[in-house]
Amino acid sequence: MRKGLFISFEGGEACGKSTQIKLLKEYVETRKDKDNFLFIREPGGTKLGEEIRNLLLNYEVDSPTPKAELLLFLASRAQLFEKVILPALNEGKIVVADRFYDSTVAYQGFARNILSAEEIYNLHKTILGDFLPDLTFYLKISPEQAFKRKEVFPSLDRMEKEGTFFHQKVYEGYEYLCRKEPDRFAIIDATDSIENIHKEITNKINNKLKKDA
Ligand SMILES: Nc1ncnc2c1ncn2[C@@H]1O[C@H](COP(=O)(O)OP(=O)(O)OP(=O)(O)O)[C@@H](O)[C@H]1O
Ligand SMILES: [Mg+2]
Repeated sequence: MRKGLFISFEGGEACGKSTQIKLLKEYVETRKDKDNFLFIREPGGTKLGEEIRNLLLNYEVDSPTPKAELLLFLASRAQLFEKVILPALNEGKIVVADRFYDSTVAYQGFARNILSAEEIYNLHKTILGDFLPDLTFYLKISPEQAFKRKEVFPSLDRMEKEGTFFHQKVYEGYEYLCRKEPDRFAIIDATDSIENIHKEITNKINNKLKKDA
């Protein structure tokens, strides 16, 4: 039976997910129970999933239709769930994901309008059952503020070539999810300093681990 803890990091482009996950990894390395943590990313996290990730982010010759894209994301997730996430949680591990279900709702639901949020939830349920993260860090920042951070980067991947309207929709998607499941989300002010955010995140995780112990 499932004993571990599943934590996801969510938010729009450049909100600081990778920065915070990197710091969390460094912090975990200092813990005695470091082998109890497993870091994964979405899409990806398995060999097949990483290939799907490359297709989704860089395929320029024949880019996927919106529905094909959604199904590729879910194919990666189905593989990751059965092969990696579930076995780790059954062993009692703490699994940390860079994006998960909420990204599908925000990007493929709200921003691309492929299916409604409810339809995406139903699809998710068909594939993964009732499984959702135990704790989701939502790094909240407006698209305008987030994009100021990326001005230094000359090459943007396919997702980032979308317009500001798209990113505003992503933002609205996350707002909807936070309203729908307030208990699952820890909303973090992503405009705060990297160090403050890191402290907030480690405090929340430690509190959660104490509560569940
Ligand atoms: N709290 C912060 N304050 C200022 N700059 C930050 C903060 N957090 C991250 N950054 C900077 O913003 C940029 C984007 O950060 P990062 O790559 O961690 O975002 P991300 O959410 O992983 O983005 P993506 O969705 O593209 O994967 C980086 O240059 C990073 O150094
Ligand atoms: Mg990132």
